[in-house]
Amino acid sequence: MRAERHSVAPGGQTWSEHASRDPSIPLSRNTHLLRWVEKMARLTRPERLHWVDGSREEYETLVAGMLQSGSLIELNQERWPGCYLARSHPSDVARVEDRTFICSYSRDAAGPTNNWCDPYEMRRTLKRLFDGSMRGRTMYVLPFCMGPLDSPMARLGVELTDSPYVVASMRTMARIGLPVFTEIDKEQKRVVPCMHSVGVPLVPGEPDVAWPCNPEKYIVHFPETREIWSFGSGYGGNALLGKKCFALRIASNLARDEGWMAEHMLILGVEDPRGEKTYVAAAFPSGCGKTNFAMMIPPEGFEGWKVWTVGDDIAWLQPDAERRLRAVNPECGFFGVAPGTPWKTNPNAMKTLSRNTIFTNVALTPDGGVWWEGMTDEPPAECVDWRGMPWTPGLSQVTGVKAAHPNSRFTAPAAQCPTIDPAWEDPAGVPISAIIFGGRRSSTIPLVYQAFNWSAGVYIGATMGSETTAAAAGATGEVRRDPMAMLPFCGYHMGDYFRHWIRMQRALAETPRIFHVNWFRKDEAGAFLWPGFRENMRVLKWIVDRVRGRAQGRETPIGWVPRYEDIEWRGLALPREQFDALQFVDREAWRTEVLAHEKLFIGLHDRLPPETIYERELLICRL
Ligand code: GTP
Ligand code: SPV
Ligand code: MN
Repeated sequence: MRAERHSVAPGGQTWSEHASRDPSIPLSRNTHLLRWVEKMARLTRPERLHWVDGSREEYETLVAGMLQSGSLIELNQERWPGCYLARSHPSDVARVEDRTFICSYSRDAAGPTNNWCDPYEMRRTLKRLFDGSMRGRTMYVLPFCMGPLDSPMARLGVELTDSPYVVASMRTMARIGLPVFTEIDKEQKRVVPCMHSVGVPLVPGEPDVAWPCNPEKYIVHFPETREIWSFGSGYGGNALLGKKCFALRIASNLARDEGWMAEHMLILGVEDPRGEKTYVAAAFPSGCGKTNFAMMIPPEGFEGWKVWTVGDDIAWLQPDAERRLRAVNPECGFFGVAPGTPWKTNPNAMKTLSRNTIFTNVALTPDGGVWWEGMTDEPPAECVDWRGMPWTPGLSQVTGVKAAHPNSRFTAPAAQCPTIDPAWEDPAGVPISAIIFGGRRSSTIPLVYQAFNWSAGVYIGATMGSETTAAAAGATGEVRRDPMAMLPFCGYHMGDYFRHWIRMQRALAETPRIFHVNWFRKDEAGAFLWPGFRENMRVLKWIVDRVRGRAQGRETPIGWVPRYEDIEWRGLALPREQFDALQFVDREAWRTEVLAHEKLFIGLHDRLPPETIYERELLICRL
C-alpha cells in the first residue's frame, strides 16, 4: 500500500505522524486504566498488546496487515483512493438483537423490551467466554471519545479488542488515540470500559481466517457499572462499541440520570433563502432513511434552500443555560447502508464514500470498484458478490441472489461530506427546533403530521411502528412497535424512558415541535405513493415553516396536517388526489392502529407515565 495516496486521513485527524514506536508500551498513566488492561490481558491471554495512538502511520500499518491476511481487499486506488473492501462471515452481517442483553441488578430495571440476565450469572458466562479468547492475537487498547473532544457533552471510553478491522473502523467513526489518552490522564477520568473479542483464539501454526467470528454471540451491557462486553461478532453495532452499545444503550442510562437524552436520531440544519438556519433531529428506525435525509439535496424549485448535515445516526441532546435543547453528534463518521444509495438520489453520500472508506459486504466490480443494488439503474455485467462468488444480473434473476448484502455498509469520515455543517463539531452543539419521528409503513400513516403539543408528540414517538429491515438479524418487512426508533437501543425500562421524555419538557424553556413522517406509504398496487429522497424537502420545508410560524395546517384526529396548498410543489407535478391518498387519515385503520399501541403498553403498564394514558384516551375520543 502506498502512503502518498492518502491525502486526507480518515477521521480528519491532523496530529503529526511520529516516529515508529513500540506499541506495547502504555500510552496512559491512568492507574485505573493500566490495572484494568492488565487484568483483561490476564483473562484473554493475547500474544501482544498494542496501545492505539490513532496516527495515520499506525492506520496504514494496520491496513497493510489486513491486506496481507486477506481481511481487506484493496480497491482500485486511482478511482477509490484509500478505499478497501471487507467481506464478513455470512453469519455475521447485522446486529443480533436476541443476543443483546441489559444486565441491570433487577430484571424490572431493564424492562420487558430488553433481554435481561442476572449480572452475576452473566459475569460468570463472560469469564468463561473471554478466558483465553485472544490467544495468538493482538489486544488493541483503543481509547475513544464520543462527541467533540472539547465538548462538555463528550464522553470517554476504552475498547479492548482483538479485531484490527474494529480499530480501523473506529478511527473513522470516533475520535481516537493520543488526544483521548491525554484527556483520560488529565484528572484520572472515568471511562466506560468496553471489552470486545471476536472469540476465535488462534492455535499456534494454524492460519487465521479473513473474518473470524464465533457462532456464540453476546452483546452485554451492565448499566449500573457502565460496562460493555461484546463477544463473537466483528460486525457494526455489535463490535464498534462506541456506537449503539455506548452512545445509545449506556448513554441512555447516563442521560436519564443526568437530565439529557441519547437518541437514535440524525441531526440536520435547513438554511432558507434568507440565510436563516433551523436545526431538526429525526428518529427513524434502522434502515429507514436517516442517512439519506441528513444528506439531502433540495430538489428543483428550492433554489436558495440548503440542507446541512450534523449527524446521521445518533444525537445527544441537552438543555443549555437558556434551557434550549442543543444537540451534538457523538460520532465523526458514517456507518451507512450501501444498498439504495445512488448518485441520482444521494450524491452527497456518494461523494462522502468516494475516498478513505471501508466497505463491508458490497460487491466488487472487475475494475476494482464497488457496486450494490440501487447504486446504478443498470447493474454491472458481472461482479463478485459479497460472499466472494461470481455474480451476473442473469444469475441473480434465476437465483434471487443479491450482489451486495442488504445490510452492507460504508464506513466514511463525516468531514468528507460535502454538506457537513460548519457547526457540526461545535462543542456547545446546535439548537434543535423540531423533532421528527418516522417509520417505514406501507399503509395507514400519513406522509406528515404534527403533534398538538409535547405530550401528544411523546405519545406519537412512543407508539411508532415500522417494518423491520436488514439492519438486524431476523425477518424483514414485519410491522413492529419501535418507540422513538429506540427499541433495540434503550438501555433501561421503556416505560421509564417515556417518563424521561415527558420530564424533559419541564427542563426546557421552549420545546421543539414534534412531527411524524412516512416516506413509504404505498398504493393498492404496492407502488410508493411518494417519490421520497430529495422530494422529502417539500415536507421538511413545511415542518420548518410550521416551526417558524409561517405555514398553515389543518386539524385532524391525529394532529395537524398540511393542505395541498401548504406544500411547495414547484418542480414536482404530484396530483392532488395522490397527495390526498398520502395524507388520508382512515379512522377505521387508525382504530386498529391504536389496538397495536395497546399491545406495547400492556407490557409496560406499571411504569407508563400517566400522560401516555391520557393521550391515548384523547386520541380514541377524537377517532
Ligand atoms: P441505520 O444506519 O441502519 O440506522 O439506517 P438509516 O436510517 O440511516 O437508513 P438509510 O438512510 O441508510 O436508508 C436505508 C434505506 O432506505 C436505503 O435503502 C434507502 O434507499 C431507503 N430510503 C431512504 N430514504 C428513502 C425515501 O425517502 N424513500 C424511499 N422509498 N426509500 C428511502
Ligand atoms: C443500525 O442498525 O441502526 C445501525 C447499524 O445504525 S449498526 O451500527 O450495525 O447498529
Ligand atoms: Mn442506526
